[in-house]
Amino acid sequence: MSGTARPRVPALEQVPADVVSLPDYAAHARARLDDNAWAYLAGGAADEITLRANRAAWDHLALVPRVLRRLAGGHTRVQLLGRTLAHPLLLAPVAYQRLAHPDGELASAHAAAAQGAGFILSAQASVLMEDVARAVLSDADRGPLWFQLYMQHDRGFTRELVQRAEASGYEAIVLTVDAPSHGVRDRERRAGLKLPADVSAVNLAALPKAPRTQLTPSQSWVFDALMPDAPTWDEIDTLRSHTRLPLLLKGVMHPEDAREAVRQRVDGLIVSNHGGRTLDTAAPTAWVLPRIADAVGDALPLLVDGGIQRGTDVLKALALGARAVLIGRPYMHALATCGAIGVAHVLRVLRDELEVAMALCGCANPAEATRELFFDVP
Ligand code: FNR
Ligand code: LAC
Repeated sequence: MSGTARPRVPALEQVPADVVSLPDYAAHARARLDDNAWAYLAGGAADEITLRANRAAWDHLALVPRVLRRLAGGHTRVQLLGRTLAHPLLLAPVAYQRLAHPDGELASAHAAAAQGAGFILSAQASVLMEDVARAVLSDADRGPLWFQLYMQHDRGFTRELVQRAEASGYEAIVLTVDAPSHGVRDRERRAGLKLPADVSAVNLAALPKAPRTQLTPSQSWVFDALMPDAPTWDEIDTLRSHTRLPLLLKGVMHPEDAREAVRQRVDGLIVSNHGGRTLDTAAPTAWVLPRIADAVGDALPLLVDGGIQRGTDVLKALALGARAVLIGRPYMHALATCGAIGVAHVLRVLRDELEVAMALCGCANPAEATRELFFDVP
C-alpha cells in the first residue's frame, strides 16, 4: 500500500441501509471480523465492568431541556490549542487499525480530515506515521493531527519517535499514561489473540529489543520487569524539552494527578480510562470529568472519552467541562463495516446529533452547555 494512495474507492463500500446511528455499526462489524480481531477491537479488561459502566454513566445523566431560546445562527465551533475547530470531535488513538480494514489508519485519517475532525495516530499504528501525515496535511479543512506516544523502554528511541512525529507534521504529542501495564485482557486471552503477519506496529519496527530481564523466583514480572521502564512524573519535563509541540496526557482520572499535570505545565488532559481496557472497575469517565474540571478550572483544556456514541453524550461531556471528545470503538466498527466512508459517516452523524441535542437543550454554542443542563451531577 502506497502512502499517498487514496483509500479504496468508497463507491465499492457503502453504509448499510439499516445503519442510522453509531451503535448500529457494531453488529455489522461483528459479522465481518473474525473472533481474533473482534476480541481485540471490542473487548475490555477482566469482567468489562468499566467498559459497560462508561456507557451507562452517560445514559444515566438526565438532561433537562430548555425552550424558546434564541438559537438561530448557533454553531458547534470550539477553540483548542490555539485553533478554531468546526466541532469538538476527534478520533481516539486506536492501535492496529488494519485489523479492522486493509486501509487501516489511512482510511480513518482521510475520513477525519473530510469531516474536519481531529485524528490521533496511535504509537502502535499499523501504517507509517509519515504516510498518514502526507495523506491529510494539505487538506485545508482538516481537524488537528496528533501523535499518541507510549514511552518505550529505549528512551533514545522514544525521543526519535517524537521528533519524527514533529518533523512529519503532527501538531501535538499525546502521552498515554494509564497503561504502564496491559490490563487483564481475559477476552483477548480466551480468543488466543494473535496479530496477523501483515499487521504490526510499523512505526516501532526499529525499536531495539528490550534486554531480557532474568527474574529470580522471588521477583515480580510487573514490578521488576515492566515498571522499571514505565514513565514517571519526573520525565515529563525531559519529554517536553524534546519537542516544540504541545503535550497532552491521556488517561488522567484523579484530580490530584490533574493538579500535578497543571503544575508541570502540560497543555491538555484527556480524561480517559482507556475505554475500560486497562483497570477494570475504574470509575466511568462521565463521573470523573466534573471532578477533574473542578480541580483544574481553566488552567488547561480537558478532553474526554469512553462510551461516547450519541450527540447527547457529547453535549453532556461539554456541559461537564470537556472542550472536546474522542471516540474509539464506534469508528472501528464503522471502519470494519465500510472503510473510510463509514468513519466519515460516523463523524457526520455524531455532529448532526450534537446539533439536535444542543437545539433541544437551548444551547446556541458549546460554551452554553453547562451543568445547568442537569438537576443532579452524580
Ligand atoms: C484503544 N485505545 C488506545 N489508546 C491509546 O492511547 N493508544 C492506543 O494504541 C490505543 N489502542 C486502542 C485499541 C483499541 C482496539 C481500542 C478499542 C482502544 C483507547 C482509545 O484511545 C480510547 O481511549 C477508547 O477507545 C475510548 O473509549 P470508546 O470510545 O472505545 O468507548
Ligand atoms: C490497547 C493498547 C494498544 O488498548 O493501547 O490495546
